[in-house]
Amino acid sequence: MPKVRKAVFPVAGLGTRFLPATKASPKEMLPIVDKPLIQYAAEEAEAGGIDQLVFITGRNKRSIEDHFDKAYELESELERAGKLDLLEIVRSVLPGNTSCIYVRQAVALGLGHAVLCAKPVVGDEPFVVLLADDLIHTEGKGVVAQMIEVYERHGCSILSVQEIPREESNKYGIVEVERDAEGTMRVVSIVEKPRPEVAPSNLAVVGRYLLTPRIFDKLEHIGKGAGGEIQLTDGISELLKDEPVIAYPFEGKRYDCGSKLGYLEATVEYALAHPALGKRFAAYLRDLAISRL
Ligand code: G1P
Repeated sequence: MPKVRKAVFPVAGLGTRFLPATKASPKEMLPIVDKPLIQYAAEEAEAGGIDQLVFITGRNKRSIEDHFDKAYELESELERAGKLDLLEIVRSVLPGNTSCIYVRQAVALGLGHAVLCAKPVVGDEPFVVLLADDLIHTEGKGVVAQMIEVYERHGCSILSVQEIPREESNKYGIVEVERDAEGTMRVVSIVEKPRPEVAPSNLAVVGRYLLTPRIFDKLEHIGKGAGGEIQLTDGISELLKDEPVIAYPFEGKRYDCGSKLGYLEATVEYALAHPALGKRFAAYLRDLAISRL
């Protein structure tokens, strides 16, 4: 079975839900406490054994390239000032064995189109896709590592899924599944952002996919779908006709950092868990709650 070595990060979206913060800088660079969303996603991929990070970028995304590049001036300044702990933080953004590749998506035609832009780099290998605004905290292995384990048992595409309140089905790709004898969920159908009345289930796809390269043939041939965009969901729906696809209920807590509320929840919870800040932040929140509620 070919090894999963490449991760694709679609980062060309406009991030309109966070305007004006995202007017000139990408939403993937929004920090949760002190680390940008894209770095959490990159670290999760690396922890899963990925060694090539493929970013599908667009205009106004230069800061992502800079973030994962060497910062000569900053590093020599920190070294000169003897701030070695900070120097280590800056240097460790990109661990040595990982390479970054940037593909420019000139027109943002949708998530399916963004993934298709990775075809020349990914070629004929299985790969993962991470949507950085889905931040997933795990106690043990990260979700990419979990999915690669499932892939090693089944050798097919895998979608990470989570149960959602049915009234939110119009925000997600929704899957219909069948359980096999071992309890594995096989995807029977998938539909992008259905209205709750017609949603096939309350199992939503979240932003982690492990896909076989056949998805590229499918994405090349589907037209525009929901919202007038080339949807990854529609490509997966075509893939299902040829190959099995598994729905995997991952272990971990997901924060929808594409929404302001989810972003704030992640910020508060990551701050509470932060080794240097957690205790003081908890005391602050407690006092605030007592004085306001
Ligand atoms: C995208 C996908 C959708 C998926 C979601 C997960 O939607 O199109 O199928 O459920 O990510 O976050 P978006 O959130 O980009 O509208």
